[in-house]
Amino acid sequence: MDIIIRENYEQVSKYTAKVIADLVRSKPNCVLGLATGSTPIGTYKELVRMHKEEGLDFSQVTTFNLDEYLGVGMDLDKPYDLDQSYARFMYEELFKHINIKKENIHIPDGRTKVPEKFCKWYEEEIRKAGGIDLQLLGIGADGHWAFNEPGSSLASRTRVVVLTKKTLDDNYESFYKKAGISREEMPHFAITMGIGTILEARNIIMVATGAKKAAIVAQALEGPVTSQVTASAIQLHSGGITVVLDEAAASCLKNIDYYKHIEKVKTEYGIK
Ligand code: PGA
Repeated sequence: MDIIIRENYEQVSKYTAKVIADLVRSKPNCVLGLATGSTPIGTYKELVRMHKEEGLDFSQVTTFNLDEYLGVGMDLDKPYDLDQSYARFMYEELFKHINIKKENIHIPDGRTKVPEKFCKWYEEEIRKAGGIDLQLLGIGADGHWAFNEPGSSLASRTRVVVLTKKTLDDNYESFYKKAGISREEMPHFAITMGIGTILEARNIIMVATGAKKAAIVAQALEGPVTSQVTASAIQLHSGGITVVLDEAAASCLKNIDYYKHIEKVKTEYGIK
């Protein structure tokens, strides 16, 4: 596991975008797993800049998003359909600015009338695409990955979940309040990739910034592997793992000096 510590949000975003861009350049038809939330916004901005200024080409890239509220959603043919769906978030923050093909974008359909069938189909689509090359992840205040709230099985698959009060509160503050939607009107259910699904991605990049995430980041990376902190499943992943943190989010890590030493030595010796 590579734990990369940078000074601030901007540097974290630049580092993360570079990892994604390097993959897109070396494997133009790669499959990316994408995330929503306030954390990846800077990463998407940087990817958009790279597309516009450096010609980073997304024309062959396929994407799968982690999750979506159930009961909302967006038809990508009608992108200005105003709602707080993650589909709309992705369209506004990334997709409308780059040359990705609409048919290569996959986001759980929050308007499905047959959620269980949909979840099976979503898993099948990931499999048919050849699996995810690189999955981008944040970490929730309660340690969740995607919408895998505490108690989710570490072997779980794509499914419908009930959101915790804490997640609703966090997302209300970040997104719904600004849109003038009341806390009561927020959807309480979601479709999410499972922890088992996420662990099958060949590479994982997890990003966290800010002091509010420091304690939960330390629990996930250095504490016991537990379904109570579903991001702790990162310790079980068998592929390439990169964790990108700012100094604030890294501040509770016991082995912080060692992680910095690893990066320094790897850089010195040119080890990837
Ligand atoms: P945030 O959410 O990026 O808005 O902090 C992270 C998450 O819930 O995974």
